[in-house]
Amino acid sequence: MSRLDFLHVVGARPNFPKAAPVLSALAVRGATQRLVHTGQHYDDSLSESFFRDLGIRHPDANLNIGSGSHAAQTAALLVALEEEMLAHPPKAVVVYGDVNSTLAATLVASKLQFPIAHVEAGLRSGDRAMPEEVNRIVTDALAASLLTTSNDATENLIREGHGIESIAMVGNTMIDSLLRLRPRFDSSLPSMIENRHAGYLVVTIHRPVNVDSARSASRVVRVLAELAEETHLVFPVHPRGRRNLESAGLASIPNLTLTNPLPYLEFMGLVESSLGVVTDSGGVQEETTVLGVPCFTLRTTTERPVTVSVGTNSLVSLESVVSTVSATLANGLGPYAIPPLWDGNAGLRAANVLQNLVGVPAELSATESNNG
Ligand code: UD1
Repeated sequence: MSRLDFLHVVGARPNFPKAAPVLSALAVRGATQRLVHTGQHYDDSLSESFFRDLGIRHPDANLNIGSGSHAAQTAALLVALEEEMLAHPPKAVVVYGDVNSTLAATLVASKLQFPIAHVEAGLRSGDRAMPEEVNRIVTDALAASLLTTSNDATENLIREGHGIESIAMVGNTMIDSLLRLRPRFDSSLPSMIENRHAGYLVVTIHRPVNVDSARSASRVVRVLAELAEETHLVFPVHPRGRRNLESAGLASIPNLTLTNPLPYLEFMGLVESSLGVVTDSGGVQEETTVLGVPCFTLRTTTERPVTVSVGTNSLVSLESVVSTVSATLANGLGPYAIPPLWDGNAGLRAANVLQNLVGVPAELSATESNNG
């Protein structure tokens, strides 16, 4: 039996819209693929609903890793992924983004000497206190093929000493998913809210730095209460911050609608019709850019500086967010641009790069080197 072409590893919510276009572009070309879900995210609202909305095929394996400390979760991922890759050796392993499942799959593939392709390589916040930054640095250090979403990411990789031949700027595969599904965004929640309020802001806050301690969660809740005095807020709450935010009084803020995490089509419908988004997420900074919705990123750094330079995103602090939001809502967003190659065809370009990584038949490469 010939060897599997690609083993793709996904595990957490932000992976799914990035992987969907790559999986389908490679399927059309007849590549043999195995899709492994680590089970890092296991709630329907963070996982299964995304598979349904994005039309991703059922994973070939679910490792059911679940939650734990970073060490416990990563250790469990390493053991289960090693078994998986030994049982189904691929020509290459494809990993996405910067979550713990990405890091673990990279370490395992590297030790087993499978070439690794990293989709969304080269993003850097410069802040190693973020677990995702550590995951990005290690993944890129070990990957053979680095597929970037923006020129700044390519430049980061070159600065770190990666050879230009290992880097391909393919654009943003997550934006492929957004553009493909935009006609199906669900606007029932926005219509319901707009019937009762003059517009609304979406809030998503779940970074450890903002929600993991009681003190930071209560500072966040105080600022949200202030924002809600001006504009209605809709906050789909990630399980990570729920307890601390609720203990700090989130549910008693007037003029705020709380929901569970939303499926992809509902969340994108909510964002598309909003006045703006206050977030500490990574992907939302990019989605708002393409939708032309103002984004206020509650962080001191961003690994996605292109979203700031094109004019849709601004970094804000807990001290500055209220005044920045009111100034933007009063004056409007101003001119903005869409970054290069965020055009709906990134999955096709990624598939070209991936096919080149595995696609040259052994006989042909041997002949070429004999002739060379
Ligand atoms: C992970 C990613 C983060 C991404 C986020 C999006 C890493 C290091 N971080 O963070 O980059 O922005 O996903 O969602 O991988 N939980 C549930 N149900 C689930 C999954 C998690 O209740 O289906 C709870 C866990 O019990 C835990 C918390 O959420 O308390 C954190 O889960 P975890 O997978 O460790 O990381 P996230 O914070 O979700």
